[in-house]
Amino acid sequence: MADLQALKERFIELYGNDGAGELHVFHAPGRVNLIGEHTDYNGGYVFPAALTFGTTMLIRKRSDGQVGFASTNFPLHKHISITNVAFDPADEWMNYPKGIIAELQQRGIAVSGYDILFSGAIPNGSGLSSSASIEVVTAFGLLTMEGQPTDKVEIALLSQKVENEFIGVKCGIMDQFAVANGKQDHAILLMCDTLEYKHVPFESGAYKLVIGNTNKKRGLVDSAYNERRAQCEQAVKDLQAQFPELTLLGQLSLEQFNEYRHLIKDETVRKRAKHVVEEIDRVLQSMRVLEQGDLAAFGKLMIASHDSLRDLYEVTGLELDVMVEEALKVQGVLGSRMTGAGFGGCTVSLVHEESVAVFIEQVGQAYKERTGLTADFYVCDIGDGVKELA
Ligand code: GLA
Repeated sequence: MADLQALKERFIELYGNDGAGELHVFHAPGRVNLIGEHTDYNGGYVFPAALTFGTTMLIRKRSDGQVGFASTNFPLHKHISITNVAFDPADEWMNYPKGIIAELQQRGIAVSGYDILFSGAIPNGSGLSSSASIEVVTAFGLLTMEGQPTDKVEIALLSQKVENEFIGVKCGIMDQFAVANGKQDHAILLMCDTLEYKHVPFESGAYKLVIGNTNKKRGLVDSAYNERRAQCEQAVKDLQAQFPELTLLGQLSLEQFNEYRHLIKDETVRKRAKHVVEEIDRVLQSMRVLEQGDLAAFGKLMIASHDSLRDLYEVTGLELDVMVEEALKVQGVLGSRMTGAGFGGCTVSLVHEESVAVFIEQVGQAYKERTGLTADFYVCDIGDGVKELA
């Protein structure tokens, strides 16, 4: 996180020192998903964790119905009227907080004027949920400032709605949920159909989670993400011949799927569905082995998850595959997989603490040789969800 004192000084530089109210600071993390990929919009399980870095928001009330937006990451800085928060492509990143304001207004919550400065520590387009982070910190910050209830499940749903309808990205609930509800040293087992969840202590002993950023940019909107969603819906339609009540693939057991998967006519669609049903089962297996402290078994499930995302769901690509392949060559690595939507972005690996330095060096070098790209690595601690900073 950027130095808070420096951020406060930047805020004063931008907006002056004679603001109407007190300056408040909020923070929402990014997230990494440990296992359970492309299962959220299928009503399955996911197992994400919040990071210790994310988006910081400094906010102070003003009384003229204007909202000032600025970011330490981008040059765009302007004031708009609180009554004019329609989507505008020229407003770039500002559309995220504008979308949150628009959604709050739709719900009958009057939002007054504010000066706002964001500072993001999540590399954009890295698949670590920079967009969910700015959405959730804005929603939580504004609701707090307005004296409204800040139910974190509601905030996740509201933020997902903004992403789906205002921004136009048809993501599931995982990112916003993890960013809102994260807890230090815990991952979140979330059932995406019912939103039942529990915080599971992530006790990795001598092992560290290491995130590898391929620095291959991925765009959710342009990518095959929506196509995958449509294929899952097609699989449900075909399976309704046997299960008329079925609405989501996550409602099927592995056994039911295996018995009736021949009903899915298209071979590609059948592959997609197989990934989803097996991946959900892998999340449940992960819970069992982690409860027994069997990290090696969890590592194997991570590898199986990546293989399935590569071969059945086909959302990995050269960069992610190379990075995982090279990771698994390093001694002391129990598992490695892509995390997030895929098509670029990041991997997550479970690495013995004594191997972390070698891992970063060796994987970084081989990755560069094979792809021409320079990777970044973050040794990752699990942090809290959205909150106000004292
Ligand atoms: C992106 C989406 C999530 C989820 C993952 C894949 O991160 O925003 O909703 O679908 O991809 O697991």
